[in-house]
Amino acid sequence: MTDRTPAHYGGEPVREAVLGYGSQSISETEKQAVVEALDGDYITRGPTVEAFEERVADLVGVDHAVATTSGTTALHLAGRAAGFGEGDEVITTPLTFASTAHVATYCGAEPVFADIDPHLRSLDPEAVREQVTEDTEGIVPMHYTGQPADIEGLLEVADEHDLTVIWDACHAFGGSWNGEPIGAQRDMAMFSFHPVKNITTGEGGMVVTDDDELADRLRRLRSFDMDYSPEGHESEPWYQVTEGLGYNYNVTDIQAALGLAQLDRLDEFKRRRDEIIAQYNEAFDDVPGIRTPPEPTESDPMYHLYAVEIGEEFGCDREEFVNAMHAENIGVQVHYVPLHYHPYFQEEFGYERGDYPKAEAVYDELVSLPLHAEMDEEDVDDVIAAVEALHTYHAE
Ligand SMILES: Cc1ncc(COP(=O)(O)O)c(C=O)c1O
Repeated sequence: MTDRTPAHYGGEPVREAVLGYGSQSISETEKQAVVEALDGDYITRGPTVEAFEERVADLVGVDHAVATTSGTTALHLAGRAAGFGEGDEVITTPLTFASTAHVATYCGAEPVFADIDPHLRSLDPEAVREQVTEDTEGIVPMHYTGQPADIEGLLEVADEHDLTVIWDACHAFGGSWNGEPIGAQRDMAMFSFHPVKNITTGEGGMVVTDDDELADRLRRLRSFDMDYSPEGHESEPWYQVTEGLGYNYNVTDIQAALGLAQLDRLDEFKRRRDEIIAQYNEAFDDVPGIRTPPEPTESDPMYHLYAVEIGEEFGCDREEFVNAMHAENIGVQVHYVPLHYHPYFQEEFGYERGDYPKAEAVYDELVSLPLHAEMDEEDVDDVIAAVEALHTYHAE
């Protein structure tokens, strides 16, 4: 433990350069792959996107992978492919990014929140069960930080009520549960390839599924819901028609080239993330009041985030912790302000603070510490030293 005065209280910061809580890692090989893609025949969606989709489908062990422009558009497509619409209810967690709930709202359905299991920090199957009504059509669980949600329990509820499940696996790409890759669980799962995620394509997302019909809908909706060769018009090669309300969520070969090269480094990224987590866990074991993430059972997660909870014994509250870490030039973040606190969900759907006490209690203490493959030993030591100094300062 260190008795250095934390920068927040007048000392020198532990480091000069700001350390972000997340960051991409792009090597020369990836840059070269992007340059080569620019020389290709396609710079929009072409054969490299197809190759990227095939690699992801193989890795996840599913029949189909459909690349999109972001995790958010992947969720939108999944909601549309599932057929969610006006009058439907879709149950999800309040402790997530807004896009998770937009599976429902983008489709004109109602997002219904259910409280979380505070240990996993994701949807509690029993709370979901209590929210099911005759209008419920789906569940959108989120694997918080990459830690698998209660997959078995949630699938059980889905089976009982014949609900479509869309797994928001934005945090969890590259992990597994019960020996099965995350994303292989029915009906659909989706990933984000935003720069802070486990691999990146700049912006980007992917929906994966074993269901042929869903995959067909996803592909059609991604590209204008267009039939490019309608029956009966074989002699009119220009005759392409829109069959419904589709989108242009086409991803480019440039992004896919980056994605393919990032996949080659997935094991390296996971190893580095695991090493940092092991160092954090060991160091914080000795710091009272820090609750480290749950030890995975039945799973080998690839963690996107390292989210701890700052309890009373630590000596200061979460707000002071965040500001003190920022004063040390260490970027920390809170994932997430619960969705029922957001004006949009309050004004549109009548949610209020107090509605989901377990999510709120977890939120009050949450902080994500820096975790990414570009962090070196000094970066990790800086984070640990800053946390220890803060605790020591308050313990005295
Ligand atoms: C849980 C979760 N769902 C959805 C999204 C949306 O992904 P994207 O930023 O790629 O649109 C994010 C990204 O921040 C996320 O963390």
